[in-house]
Amino acid sequence: MDLCEARKLDAKHVFGTYGRLPVMLVRGRGVYVYDSEGNRYLDMLAGLSVNALGHCNKRVADAVKKQIVTLSHVSNLYYTEPMIHLARRLNEISGMKKCFFGNSGAEANEAAIKLVRRYHSQILRDGRNEIICMKNSFHGRTMLTVTATGQDVYKKGFDPLPPGFKHTPMNDLGALEKKITGKTAAVMVEPVQGEGGVYPATKKFMKGLVSLRRKHGIELIFDEVQCGLGRTGKWFAYMHYGVKPDVMTLAKPVAGGLPMGVMLARGKVVKGFAPGSHASTFGANPVVSAGALAFLDEMREKQLVEYAGNIGNYFMSELSGLKEKRPEIKELRGLGLMIGIEMDADAKKAADFFLENGVLVNAVKPNVLRALPPYIINEKHIDLFVKLLDEFLETQ
Ligand SMILES: Cc1ncc(COP(=O)(O)O)c(C=O)c1O
Repeated sequence: MDLCEARKLDAKHVFGTYGRLPVMLVRGRGVYVYDSEGNRYLDMLAGLSVNALGHCNKRVADAVKKQIVTLSHVSNLYYTEPMIHLARRLNEISGMKKCFFGNSGAEANEAAIKLVRRYHSQILRDGRNEIICMKNSFHGRTMLTVTATGQDVYKKGFDPLPPGFKHTPMNDLGALEKKITGKTAAVMVEPVQGEGGVYPATKKFMKGLVSLRRKHGIELIFDEVQCGLGRTGKWFAYMHYGVKPDVMTLAKPVAGGLPMGVMLARGKVVKGFAPGSHASTFGANPVVSAGALAFLDEMREKQLVEYAGNIGNYFMSELSGLKEKRPEIKELRGLGLMIGIEMDADAKKAADFFLENGVLVNAVKPNVLRALPPYIINEKHIDLFVKLLDEFLETQ
């Protein structure tokens, strides 16, 4: 199928919910993907933070191939070994105690909200059910998670939205505390806001959340769907802040490119779920769990968490060098390999320029270009990115 036919058939058969770019990708290997016309692209977006190991990692592919011909799927009514190993490994690296598995980031966040609400309703019986979320946040597209999301653009047309959510600006402890009432169950935060335009939380704010937790008896939910699992140069972004959540959500890279979402919790809130209170047909089935175990093995063996931090520092320092020369770059934000470049220029045009020059990157906001490269990129790839950004800004 060529691109022209793909466009026609997609328009005819698929809901037009995505503003697709005029490229059909057909295969990938390492940091590169290839289109239907044989063009090669350096993938600095990694399937939106998914392909942390690059494309078609051999260890993940081998593990998935082996598992799919051994036991591909059974109901969660039975024990399966890959899931149990995976839960143990995730709890070990995160310091959490229990995992619930679903298939996406939104589902992981749904599970987090449900866990906290059920804990307050069935265990504490204190009538607290409100979740305070951050303005500019993003937590998913299901009804509950789109309501938790702090950007109106994603909510338009979906009324009535479920009740029980409030929003407050990130990094403003005073404003947050004013929103806390006797109905507040939890505060939900992305330690680094991704879809909002790449905004890391401040240390003061994150430390302050711990005091508020103690003072008001609320839970802290950290959404690490985009920033978790090595992307920021630590296994979890919360580790930069010396603050541990009660509930954390993961997805994107966790199963090496297969769909998986995980909600992890520790402390008393784990009592919130009991048999029958939550479920997912596909959650951590043997194939995705095998992919996830291979992802964790590869991360450990190749020391990719540390590498992501170091190469992320190189990326940021090269961009800072360019910022000195290019006043169009207004602000550089991020942690590790999660980078936002705010510009006095059209970020969509910049992303198109990168595409024409064989690099995938995305305009997360009209004036913010976002890079979420795989953890296996090297200096050469970054130098190319910075050179192209320089060339683009030259033409503005
Ligand atoms: C922080 C965060 N939470 C949740 C989600 C939703 O994840 P999914 O698209 O897998 O449902 C995303 C997706 O971009 C995200 O960035």
